[in-house]
Amino acid sequence: MVTFAHWPKTATPVTGAGQRLVADGLVAGRSGGLVPHSVAVPHTPFPAGRPGYATTMTLDVTLPARQEQRAATRIGLLDTVRCAAGVLAPILAQGVIHRRDRVVRLAQRLDLNRRGARILHRLRARHGDGPLRLTLPGRSVVVVLDPADVERVLAGSPAPFALATSEKVAALRHFQPHGVLVSTGGIRAARRRYNDTVLDADAPMHRLADAITAVVRAEAARLAAAPELDWPAFDAMWQRIVRRIVLGTAARDDTRLTTELNRLRDAANWAYLRPRQEHLRGRFQRRVDAYVAAAEPGSLAGTMAGTPAAGGVDPAGQVPHWLFAFDAAGMTALRTLALLGSDPARRATAAGDAPPLYPFVRACVQDTARLWPTTLIVLRESTTATDWGGTTLRAGTTFMLPSSYHHRDETAMHNADAFDPEAWLSGAPRRSATIYPFSAGPGACPGRNLVLLSTTTLIAALLARFPDLRNPCPLIEPLPRTLDHAGLRLATRRAP
Ligand code: HEM
Repeated sequence: MVTFAHWPKTATPVTGAGQRLVADGLVAGRSGGLVPHSVAVPHTPFPAGRPGYATTMTLDVTLPARQEQRAATRIGLLDTVRCAAGVLAPILAQGVIHRRDRVVRLAQRLDLNRRGARILHRLRARHGDGPLRLTLPGRSVVVVLDPADVERVLAGSPAPFALATSEKVAALRHFQPHGVLVSTGGIRAARRRYNDTVLDADAPMHRLADAITAVVRAEAARLAAAPELDWPAFDAMWQRIVRRIVLGTAARDDTRLTTELNRLRDAANWAYLRPRQEHLRGRFQRRVDAYVAAAEPGSLAGTMAGTPAAGGVDPAGQVPHWLFAFDAAGMTALRTLALLGSDPARRATAAGDAPPLYPFVRACVQDTARLWPTTLIVLRESTTATDWGGTTLRAGTTFMLPSSYHHRDETAMHNADAFDPEAWLSGAPRRSATIYPFSAGPGACPGRNLVLLSTTTLIAALLARFPDLRNPCPLIEPLPRTLDHAGLRLATRRAP
């Protein structure tokens, strides 16, 4: 049984058992090179009298044997320069750890992510689907394009594909030298367990769900009424929510904590190129430590107090990552509202969605994170030599997984540039190896459920508060590949 997401538009309509269905290319099942261009349909997938296309459908198909692992191919200097300048440089320039609003705006205006995707398509057509080895002196770096390879790398984390790459360590040590993401070996495993426990990683409803949703609703209700909801107002509210969820209500108005963290993140954007500001980091961490010690009930700090930690975990040292990562959730929530504000029918569905899980709003947030992933490239570094269809990549190779390319790969999915929350309700994209906004495998984001809980509650609360919320500059398809969240302005009142 295989579920196809984003069924190709030009597929032959399926009307009956035994009919042959011809698709216009590989679909989501491209993972592992398993799905051919045409499949025999052994049963009727649609009820009689309802032939047609579907965004998602499930068919029983017999799949051919998995294709051979594809070899890694070295690309020449010119193609390396094209990739570095057209794909990697724009991502780095936008700010990997702290977004630079002006550069994001420029990236949207010049549609840099779409240009980068075109470059990757061309390189793929020229060199094949295997990992592309860049020509770099003294470094082994590959771009992973094939879905089966993406799956292999993510499933094989943290060994042999470590999350703690040298670039990530250089960047994140500016503000979280003991974070799980930059840890290795036994201490990484202990820190990951600790994060999973406090964040209730696998539970759609965190044990603090009642307290968290109460905080979110209270802050949404206190948002000053204004004709426009823009990023500064939204972000200020979101940061109050984040500080309350993580550290407690005592931290609600501690904007200095957020300012200090943002200064450290600005430096982190430069990784090795900026000296560490130990004085600032020490001051910031001491503020965090004080809230953690106070262990306010109903906050993650309170949960930490009752969570045993193995030696060396440094519980308070995990908190800077949480505060930082919640930023991505705020951007995603406002982008989701911008999409819903562009689409009255979906806005109405979202407004009528059922608490506490809000399944439709949840699907909207997930598709927004697909459309505009906040980690534009997921990095891994091999701890041993690895074999790729007979070619060996040495230990210490950096694997770059360009999620912003995969999530919008129009050759692999139909309607890649459309907002399609309905596809998530069927569960299909979650099974596709090339859609990984929260990463996947053992290194998947342990905060994903907390993000979905807090953002869906906020979106539902804001839609209830502003029933006429609309986007005066509607987002239309094909949706831009970069969306400058800081430039969004939503009208909270009905159009005059
Ligand atoms: C929209 C919001 C978020 C997105 C899209 C997101 C996405 C991701 C991704 C892609 C990774 C993998 C990074 C890598 O492999 O380099 C990751 C890791 C992680 N995330 Fe999130 N994240 C979000 C919010 C959060 C929040 C709010 C928390 C905590 C409260 C959190 C905690 C973590 C941690 C601790 C890791 C490291 C996991 C490890 O090393 O095993 N994230 N996240």
